[in-house]
Amino acid sequence: MRVIAIDGPAASGKSSTGARVAQQLGWAHLDSGALYRALTLASLDSLGKGGTGKGEGWSVQRVLALADGLPVRLVLVGGAFRAEVAGVDVEEAIRSERVTRHVSALAAIPELRAWANAQQRQLVAEHPAGVVVDGRDIGTVVFPEAPLKVFLTATPDERARRRLTQQGQVLDTERVRRESQALAARDEADASRPVAPLQPAVDAVLLDSTHLTLDEQVARIVALAQERFPTVHRLTGA
Ligand code: DC
Repeated sequence: MRVIAIDGPAASGKSSTGARVAQQLGWAHLDSGALYRALTLASLDSLGKGGTGKGEGWSVQRVLALADGLPVRLVLVGGAFRAEVAGVDVEEAIRSERVTRHVSALAAIPELRAWANAQQRQLVAEHPAGVVVDGRDIGTVVFPEAPLKVFLTATPDERARRRLTQQGQVLDTERVRRESQALAARDEADASRPVAPLQPAVDAVLLDSTHLTLDEQVARIVALAQERFPTVHRLTGA
């Protein structure tokens, strides 16, 4: 099976790394977090503010009915899967603070994870040329048989600096500290949930990117891919 699984905590660079690796190999890139985010956006827009807690409006059945009815899905556009809700591209909207605040709660629900896993498996089956999939549980749950699994990490401070830089913010000590704490809290929520917690697969290659540039991370994974998939060639240096 031509799948490379890249897992790791928030802001560890999984998606930018996954996108570049896919581009260099001529494979597609699937950011599984986009599925959870698109489902969250659809629920916020269609079911109101609520939440998935007891007595709140987002019953699992209602969210699943939205997922299938609207539908919420990923569509391959020029080598990358993009999130769509009711036929509208929502790649930008799903990165909003509003979605980020609610997504962890929704991603902790087993039935919604089963839905997301089924989507990913179907998309991969439809793209035998190869897919780089990134997320939290790709190597452990979604594609445990992937020939190459990478667990990408970096210290919370370094991840905070990268995220703030990406957002065009100034890197003052206080801001980095606050962002670093927020990331650590999200890691904790993702790692301690009972279903599909964030953890490396036993056979994952651990890659600490704290002191690596994006190009270096990508080059390491592409080199591993060439070892694990003998017929794979690097297409571009881009
Ligand atoms: O990587 P991200 O920030 O876009 O992920 C959004 C949320 O979805 C985050 O709370 C973790 C969750 N997620 C998950 O539980 N499993 C995945 N395979 C991908 C994301």
